[in-house]
Amino acid sequence: MAWLTAAIDAGVREPHAMTLSTSGENGRPDARVLILKDLDSQGWWFTTNSASAKGRQLTQSPVAALTFYWPGMGQ
Ligand SMILES: Cc1cc2nc3c(=O)[nH]c(=O)nc-3n(C[C@H](O)[C@H](O)[C@H](O)COP(=O)(O)O)c2cc1C
Repeated sequence: MAWLTAAIDAGVREPHAMTLSTSGENGRPDARVLILKDLDSQGWWFTTNSASAKGRQLTQSPVAALTFYWPGMGQ
């Protein structure tokens, strides 16, 4: 949260854009860009279609990694 707030305050372009990495069939990695909609004590929120590849993958294996790129932030 602090890093995201710092990126917003620093004027990073599209600081809410993030890469969501999931496990696909046979454990193959899969990743795509999404928009972070909210962040609270429950976690990181995004919207998508549950029938999409990522939706199916998260149903099968409900773990994921999020990666942000904030140029100039060094984080
Ligand atoms: C800047 C940007 C933002 C995006 N935001 C979303 C998003 O919030 N939700 C979403 O489902 N797809 C979003 N997409 C599309 C995804 O990157 C992806 O192509 C799509 O969801 C299908 O992914 P999947 O086939 O791996 O499930 C975005 C793409 C770009 C380039």
